[in-house]
Amino acid sequence: MSGLNILVTGGAGFIGSHLVDALVEAGHKVRILDSLVEQVHGDTPPEHINPNAEFIHADVCDAEAVSRALDGIEVVYHQAAEVGVGQSMYEIVRYVKANDLGTAVLLEEMIKRPGQFKKLIVASSMSIYGEGAYRNPATGETVYPQLRPASQLESHDWELRDGDTLLEPIGTSEAKPLFPTSVYAVSKQDQEQYCLAVGRAYSIPTVAFRYFNVYGTRQALSNPYTGVCAIFSARLMNDQAPTIFEDGLQSRDFVNVKDIVRANLLALETDRGDYEAMNVGTGRPTTVKQIAELLAKGLGKDIAPDIVGKYREGDIRHCVSDISKIRELLGYEPQVTLEDGLAELLEWLATQEAEDRVEAATAELSQKGLVK
Ligand code: UD1
Repeated sequence: MSGLNILVTGGAGFIGSHLVDALVEAGHKVRILDSLVEQVHGDTPPEHINPNAEFIHADVCDAEAVSRALDGIEVVYHQAAEVGVGQSMYEIVRYVKANDLGTAVLLEEMIKRPGQFKKLIVASSMSIYGEGAYRNPATGETVYPQLRPASQLESHDWELRDGDTLLEPIGTSEAKPLFPTSVYAVSKQDQEQYCLAVGRAYSIPTVAFRYFNVYGTRQALSNPYTGVCAIFSARLMNDQAPTIFEDGLQSRDFVNVKDIVRANLLALETDRGDYEAMNVGTGRPTTVKQIAELLAKGLGKDIAPDIVGKYREGDIRHCVSDISKIRELLGYEPQVTLEDGLAELLEWLATQEAEDRVEAATAELSQKGLVK
């Protein structure tokens, strides 16, 4: 599909802004609805807002503004959300409001316009899985363990076990039962399911993307509640050692924002992904320690990470995507290697200043009993 009228909620954010750029580049007419959350953007609008997109500064909970934003729109990308996992555990109303109510408002306004929309694409998250999928090497079975018990974590025993058998992490597919472990994660599950349910009922072809750990340029470096790449970068740029929870050998699937954008554009080209939820990742595990080391090396800082042996409430040990479904349905293939992606991130970091608010945020989490 080309030359479409497209609305991107959260289009000033990290992922949304890259998506807007790609859509404008592909010849679409793009409108952004974004409330410019202070924690993410500070008090000035970010320079990366695409000047060739129309910008509406409003909250996704504001029905009148959302209605205005939907005028003439054929495709909606719903990327607006509050995104701090730890913070969501005490600013519960804020997260439920932005993520749940915001999606509800958007959907109510959309269904007032029957037949107008060709596609709704919603940003979901790997966080809805909880722990990733594992294989029990003794039985060969795929297992879906719950969070590690507090007693295990207190003794600094980090890996997943079934009795005495150490479980092996394997790719997590969409078949894994959902077990969200934070308010943020529950709200992402809600967003995904509200969109798919309403989309199905009103014949709005809807696609939900479960993003894995997204990194790249324009990450909110001064937002201490966001992902580990941005947090470690902000620490290192201020000559501080990154703090590693557990032992640093926990693994994640770090996917570059360009690959996330690629998946979002593919969803426009086919109906094969309609009414489906799909992982968007790389399928490759990387440990948190590796990330700290790669960033320090790339920034030319001789700073070893601080492995403190503490742990965060609700943290999972391993989760890496199985991308068979999106490969098959959309023909998606991740194209950015971690090496290239981090190199580009580092080049961008050299042009940025990051206010290091990490210590204060960690202290806040500790005080609330969320870091132990
Ligand atoms: C969570 C969400 C994910 C969201 C992401 C960024 C879950 C399961 N997933 O991912 O959807 O996109 O947050 O908001 O909730 N770490 C440190 N030191 C730090 C910060 C983090 O060691 O200063 C460790 C964490 O303990 C964790 C790993 O790095 O083991 C990754 O943390 P993070 O980047 O916050 O992402 P997730 O928890 O994987």
